[in-house]
Amino acid sequence: MSPQPDPDFWSTRRVLVTGGRGFLGRAVLDRLSTREVGSVVAPTSADYDLRDRAAVAAMFADIEPDLVIHLAARVGGIGANMARPAELYLDNLLMGTYVLDEARLRETAKTVVIGTICSYPKYTPVPFSETSLWQGYPEETNAPYGIAKLAQLVQLQANRAQYGQSAIYLMPTNLYGPRDKFHPAVSHVIPALIKKAVDAKESGADHIDVWGTGSASREFLYVDDAAEGIVLAAERYDGGEPVNLGADRELPIRDLVEIIVKLVGFDGEVRWDTTKPDGQPRRAVDATRARERFGFVAGTPFDEGLRLTLDWYLANRAEAEARPF
Ligand SMILES: NC(=O)c1ccc[n+]([C@@H]2O[C@H](COP(=O)([O-])OP(=O)(O)OC[C@H]3O[C@@H](n4cnc5c(N)ncnc54)[C@H](OP(=O)(O)O)[C@@H]3O)[C@@H](O)[C@H]2O)c1
Repeated sequence: MSPQPDPDFWSTRRVLVTGGRGFLGRAVLDRLSTREVGSVVAPTSADYDLRDRAAVAAMFADIEPDLVIHLAARVGGIGANMARPAELYLDNLLMGTYVLDEARLRETAKTVVIGTICSYPKYTPVPFSETSLWQGYPEETNAPYGIAKLAQLVQLQANRAQYGQSAIYLMPTNLYGPRDKFHPAVSHVIPALIKKAVDAKESGADHIDVWGTGSASREFLYVDDAAEGIVLAAERYDGGEPVNLGADRELPIRDLVEIIVKLVGFDGEVRWDTTKPDGQPRRAVDATRARERFGFVAGTPFDEGLRLTLDWYLANRAEAEARPF
């Protein structure tokens, strides 16, 4: 069980959430609505394009936040990472760099930066400990994204050392849940598999094609749990060391596929397209630091989270498939 919120922390806060219209952003806004927050502002990319330094400065000048939760990013699954590595590198590097530096210049009381486990070395010992972050190069398909995000950890540690900036860095594992992106150009593995299985069942197809060999493993964190972890960390953690957010559960992709086709009710064949990459061979994080530093424990059982994800997708197909990037 995660600890109770601290009303004294939130009641006077003016919170800025970047990327608040995104998958994780909407879950974070929901979690903030359970606290008595002074005010919350969540501008869109149309309001302020965070790749533009002047727009970032204008956002801070207009909103005057004293807590920033920086979620805005260009994010996608293996397909998007392979198709747009340069955009994923530069856009994420620019957005993070400008937001952190503007927060420093304006002496914003606290900034929460969301990293990714795509920053870990390709062959990190499992479970991934935060101390392994610099022991090798990330898996090739997601390295531009992972390195751009990791640069923000270096920046906030340097700013903390030189200027005393209060900024923290959290690394969630693969997220899943309602309001995820189901468009094939950007979807991560769970929405991609759900859509394939649902489409195949509806069209009466006798098989689905699944990328890779099925031998890779992943750890999945329900999006509302991740949001609670972020809000708890904002409230209780103030250190320069990065912190994993995970669910203490490693799942082979082969088992995940079985679970999803059963849940959807697709009884055709699963064909593995081994010409496509598996991505990182194994992924599961050590969640000890998040538990010890701010009391975060993921609470949603995987089968329940998956059921909620499928139900949302079936009820919101157009919205779910609308966001190609
Ligand atoms: N999804 C995962 O499995 C996962 C796992 C670990 C970490 N993360 C991290 O969690 C954060 C949120 O990811 P997500 O899955 O919620 O992504 P998402 O649904 O794609 O949302 C990303 C948000 O970023 C905003 N954005 C993109 N480009 C922008 C720009 N140039 N200027 C301003 N805003 C911009 C978008 O705003 P508009 O909608 O207004 O255009 C969008 O709301 C990211 O930092 C990501 O790296 C995600």
